[in-house]
Amino acid sequence: MEYREFGWTGVKTSNIGMGTYYDPTYIIMSRLLSYQRGRDEKLAALKEGLERGMTLIDTAEIYQTEDIVAEAIEGYKRDDLFIMTKVFRNHMRYQNVLKAAENSLKRLKCSYIDLYQIHWPNPRVPIEETMKAMEKLVDDGKVRFLGVSNFSLEQMRRAEEALAKSKLASNQVEYNLKARTIEVDLLPYCEEKDIVILPYRPIAHGALATPEGKLKAVMDEISQKHGGKTPAQIALNWLMTKSKVIFPIPRASRPERILENVGAVGWQLTADDCQRLEHTVTVTT
Ligand SMILES: NC(=O)c1ccc[n+]([C@@H]2O[C@H](COP(=O)([O-])OP(=O)(O)OC[C@H]3O[C@@H](n4cnc5c(N)ncnc54)[C@H](OP(=O)(O)O)[C@@H]3O)[C@@H](O)[C@H]2O)c1
Repeated sequence: MEYREFGWTGVKTSNIGMGTYYDPTYIIMSRLLSYQRGRDEKLAALKEGLERGMTLIDTAEIYQTEDIVAEAIEGYKRDDLFIMTKVFRNHMRYQNVLKAAENSLKRLKCSYIDLYQIHWPNPRVPIEETMKAMEKLVDDGKVRFLGVSNFSLEQMRRAEEALAKSKLASNQVEYNLKARTIEVDLLPYCEEKDIVILPYRPIAHGALATPEGKLKAVMDEISQKHGGKTPAQIALNWLMTKSKVIFPIPRASRPERILENVGAVGWQLTADDCQRLEHTVTVTT
């Protein structure tokens, strides 16, 4: 595994992490029927990642997976891990943020959260109110660092202005070879300020693992050059090669896929490989 400083925080985490959003049906079944489909395999996948040195895990109060994360990390030294969760947009009022964090801590069976993220902006609640609560959590030692998710550059700047003494450590947004909107302004801004980008859907929800046509041909050539790397590994490596502030968090529900994703680190695409990939894909913005 490779470790990098998580932006300006200076904390070293694995360069690649594990996402735990499964799908809306999973969430609904879990909420209404307390049935977590495929729980054992999901747990085994997370444990495999931890065994391989993946210390970065992303969850959210809405995902219904904080308890699986809690079980997976049992027995690991808490300080070696970087646990990230999120408060949902319906909990943006001051008291609701504090309560949501308490509930997440209980489900995670942790005394602190490494990165607490606002899942989506909510224009109906002043960002100052939300950020006041977020900073209270930092003051109380319940949260180490603050992040946002799905915030545009403008929304991010406003969130930063609303903070009295903390700084934003990250923004979690969609980013992959095919979805590159953030390259226009968000990525350069975050690079300048050493703020981490946590790209979600890093393999385009699985699509980049099964490329077709010209992209498949280019990936096959690149794979040969790098000792048989798979399309998913190439897509993930492209993200990490792109910038030192990028920490992808692919989700994988099976241990064998986690193992494959671990193989996305420890080598590097060349500038020419990256250019060829970028020129081959059809970008959606
Ligand atoms: N902040 C937000 O609003 C937001 C939104 C979406 C996602 N996220 C976060 O980002 C994480 C990742 O995003 P995502 O899950 O939407 O998309 P993703 O990681 O790009 O893709 C996940 C899909 O790819 C499959 N996969 C994983 N590794 C693979 C491999 N090596 N080969 C082939 N297929 C592979 C997974 O399979 P299986 O799981 O079936 O094994 C799953 O179907 C989430 O889990 C969540 O933590 C955040």
